[in-house]
Amino acid sequence: MWSKSIQSQSPCQLATAVLLNPIMTELIQTHNLGRHFGDIKAVDGISFGAGRGEVLGFLGPNGAGKSTTMKLLTGFLSPSFGTATVAGFDIVEQSRDVRRCLGYLPENAPLYGEMEVAAFLKFVCEIRKIEASRRKAAIDTVIERAGLSGVLHQKIETLSKGYRRRVGLAQALVHDPEILILDEPTDGLDPNQKHDVRELILALAKDKCILLSTHILEEVEEVCSRIVIISRGKIVADGTADELRTRTASHGVVKMRLSGAQADSVDRELSEVPGVKEVAAQRVGDEVAVLVTPTGGDFSVHNLVEAVISKQCRIRDLSVERGHLDEVFRAITETVDFSGRP
Ligand SMILES: Nc1ncnc2c1ncn2[C@@H]1O[C@H](COP(=O)(O)OP(=O)(O)O)[C@@H](O)[C@H]1O
Ligand SMILES: [Mg+2]
Repeated sequence: MWSKSIQSQSPCQLATAVLLNPIMTELIQTHNLGRHFGDIKAVDGISFGAGRGEVLGFLGPNGAGKSTTMKLLTGFLSPSFGTATVAGFDIVEQSRDVRRCLGYLPENAPLYGEMEVAAFLKFVCEIRKIEASRRKAAIDTVIERAGLSGVLHQKIETLSKGYRRRVGLAQALVHDPEILILDEPTDGLDPNQKHDVRELILALAKDKCILLSTHILEEVEEVCSRIVIISRGKIVADGTADELRTRTASHGVVKMRLSGAQADSVDRELSEVPGVKEVAAQRVGDEVAVLVTPTGGDFSVHNLVEAVISKQCRIRDLSVERGHLDEVFRAITETVDFSGRP
């Protein structure tokens, strides 16, 4: 198990930005940000913000524009139009300051294969200009966080994909940045490694702003405090998992299993309960399975239960559907691969 301990290591340059810009609340802010490659509108005018303590999940099908957005925020690409700030610094005008304040795990983390893990982390400390006196502590902390103690003297090119991902995470964390941008951090990991990375992200989330991309729905449910769904370079949904679930057809549907002499005719009573849109009932053995779809508004489960009891039925089981994120995802994105889309 990887360590969950979080020790504040270094005062980030963010403090300077906050002093210069005391009203700044969002650590990442984009305004109509866009990047086109010829006819390909990879990112097509997106606006969103993310603050400290937030894990913002960037969700979308392949080719939606997630990685391109991250490359714009981290200064690896320049925008075709629009603006963005990271820790209050403009991504174009103040790109050096931006890079100092963030840690970035790119989709195919470019690591130096010939180097051993320990030497590579030392090298990252040097290019990150971490003071010599603080380097050992900084490296020890990320080794523990990323679970790398067993491979320190192994060449990176000989590591499994899971370990290379961990090294990528370690290099993103070594200067203890306030902002982390992680492009599919669990891609290629086995279930246990995925679990460990999610635990690490949750542990880091408390005092950082984390933007992560994924197409794994269970991942966003588990770690993200907010979800932005992106499709064809545009934001098509922005909210918490619960808010997005309210958009699904199954959200709020009441499922019951009833028994009793009058169970077969209970649907008429239930249709008259305020706020009920539709009732479907079907006999299954000695029970009747009922699905009640509310319109919203003045619907209450309490009234529904009273109507059931008035027919002398017994409730064997009752549950209220929350809705599923994959329903939302499928409804608002198209399940095709957009790589190479015009
Ligand atoms: N350097 C590039 N040159 C041309 N097209 C690109 C380039 N980078 C990305 N694209 C295109 O931009 C779109 C968005 O890509 P990307 O941001 O990688 O999507 P995602 O990370 O959501 O899978 C895709 O159609 C992709 O082919
Ligand atoms: Mg990508």
